[in-house]
Amino acid sequence: MDKKFKRTTVTSALPYANGPVHIGHLAGVYVPADIYVRYLRLKGEEVVFIGGSDEHGVPVTIRAKKEGCTPQDVVDRYHKIIKDSFQEFGISFDIYSRTTSKTHHKLASDFFRTIYDKNGFIEKTSDQYYDEEAKTFLADRYIVGECPRCHAQGAYGDQCEKCGSALSPEELINPISKLSGAKPVLRSTKHWYLPLDKHEAWLRKWILDEHKEWRPNVYGQCKSWLDTGLQPRAVSRDLDWGIPVPVEGAEGKVLYVWFDAPIGYISNTKELCDNNPEKYGNWEKWWKDPETRLIHFIGKDNIVFHCIVFPAMLKAEGSFILPDNVPSNEFLNLEGDKISTSRNWAVWLNEYLVDFPGKQDTLRYVLTANAPETKDNDFTWKDFQTRNNSELVAIYGNFVNRALVLTKKYCDGKVPPVSQMTDYDKETLKEFADVKEKLESLLDNFKFRDAQKEAMNLARIGNKYLADTEPWKLAKTDMDRTLSILHLSLQIAANLAIAFEPFLPFSSEKLRKMLNMQSFEWNQLGRIDLLKTGAELGTPELLFEKIEDDAIEAQIQRLENNKKENEKNNWQPDPINGQSTIDDFAKLDIRVGTVLECQKVKKSDKLLQFKIDDGLGGRTILSGIAKSYPDPAELVGKQVCFVANFPTRKMMGLESQGMIMSAVNSDGNLVVISPSKQVANGSHVG
Ligand code: MF3
Ligand code: ZN
Repeated sequence: MDKKFKRTTVTSALPYANGPVHIGHLAGVYVPADIYVRYLRLKGEEVVFIGGSDEHGVPVTIRAKKEGCTPQDVVDRYHKIIKDSFQEFGISFDIYSRTTSKTHHKLASDFFRTIYDKNGFIEKTSDQYYDEEAKTFLADRYIVGECPRCHAQGAYGDQCEKCGSALSPEELINPISKLSGAKPVLRSTKHWYLPLDKHEAWLRKWILDEHKEWRPNVYGQCKSWLDTGLQPRAVSRDLDWGIPVPVEGAEGKVLYVWFDAPIGYISNTKELCDNNPEKYGNWEKWWKDPETRLIHFIGKDNIVFHCIVFPAMLKAEGSFILPDNVPSNEFLNLEGDKISTSRNWAVWLNEYLVDFPGKQDTLRYVLTANAPETKDNDFTWKDFQTRNNSELVAIYGNFVNRALVLTKKYCDGKVPPVSQMTDYDKETLKEFADVKEKLESLLDNFKFRDAQKEAMNLARIGNKYLADTEPWKLAKTDMDRTLSILHLSLQIAANLAIAFEPFLPFSSEKLRKMLNMQSFEWNQLGRIDLLKTGAELGTPELLFEKIEDDAIEAQIQRLENNKKENEKNNWQPDPINGQSTIDDFAKLDIRVGTVLECQKVKKSDKLLQFKIDDGLGGRTILSGIAKSYPDPAELVGKQVCFVANFPTRKMMGLESQGMIMSAVNSDGNLVVISPSKQVANGSHVG
């Protein structure tokens, strides 16, 4: 680590507690942060790793309304699910707390107040939408209407999901409140703003001149924000879920979720230190000492908040250090498609663990191997299988297993003596002499993907060494040489346990036990005296298991089912400017016929059986409208419209040749459609 720093505070974005976490979260933020922290710990450096749930904000309140529970219920539920998932994947937080904690409410409130007292905010009154029926101001997400750009219905006050435009609520055509359905009215309201424009000059210098080493995607996004010019940003909202604005006359107003959430990093550090001062010391040293290095791990949608807004807050408060680096990843896609919670196009961590118990390291490995460090990347189940079977199993696992099993066989499970080193041995060793240096320079620069590749390379060297020397054959003729080879192989395996620890902590722990390693430090990497001759080894076990085709097929099938299910549930015809064409319509043969008979189908409370004069000799049609027509006889003699060209279907033992068309009334009742004048039976509708 850089000489000027004594310790490191590592934070990872606080996930919203309004849903479980998926592989995109893990790949983008938590696995890289965890690799980094584990690496620093192994090096014996002073580090804390801070996590927690982001529990305020409008999405939580929307979810609560939908489910008919309180926002607190929502966050209690998901905080636990998320926390458990992280723990199971070995994300080694020193603390995982939450922004509804008392400590956080007080600290965030004080933080605001300090800036307020220094005149660090500006107050502005503006017109915002208000729902007179629900008696509340409306957050952007609570207002829907027609998109001013593409004219889709149902665009939100902050964004149109159809065309992707960013919107502000006043732009919507015919806005309605999602709360009550009422037309919202503009009402004036006062809010506090952080004048980012006033911070622009130092931010420019600090980022653009002094942090050229930040990842290009991060640096580039910052530059584009700064070049556009910064505007004051509201840091309060009219909402009843959040931390009250600690200022007189601010009733009904809370801190904007993006104001309080990053302060959560600080509150959670405080909670950690207050609970365990012997181990962690005073919280302030982690946030206020210029010899502390602050690193934020985040996803790319969080860049502006962590590189511009939060630093401006910290500076405005006045007593805090600024981040030294903000390694942000791009996005991970799934099977070529954007991961989406609402479309259920995701691999949920809690579900993965049910389907692949004990295989946390496999997922960690694959996510790092495909980490979206420099560009969006794709996760596919096939690749997952290949990486497991032909890298983890066939290289790393195979090498370790052979070394241990042969040692058991030829040396009674004890580290064999080494009697001779051939030139070949020396050459092999040369190849991993500089592995420590290589790994360090990659890890120090947040290049986790390449670092893991380097570690796997070490395993490859070991595997090749055994394959080339074939000690199982030599054992018949030259036991000394056999034992020497095994000795060296075990030393390489011990190196692997250390090198892989940040990436694959569960496997390293297993391997460490199998090798009975007493000490375990980063600084031992590259040495070949990690295991003492004669030392007793543990029982050999497989480090990784093969994943079979059917397990992979099942995952792909599940995704496809989700997709179908979702298309069924979410298909909504666009009532004005939709997708259907005249050709779609022409595929349907809709006709008029007269109802000759109509009666209830026995043993069904839904179906009516129609006999129709269709001008073609007559047909039978079953229709699920019995509840709307308790007296089916009233339909006899009426003309109706029906789809004539559906394939014949069998229901309740009867055949149905088409579909009677009905309108759905606002009370849910179905009303059969008739032509407004008598027409010939069999007439086309079109
Ligand atoms: N909850 C935010 C998200 O998931 C991240 C918040 S990070 C913090 O995008 F800085 F606010 F904590
Ligand atoms: Zn639009």
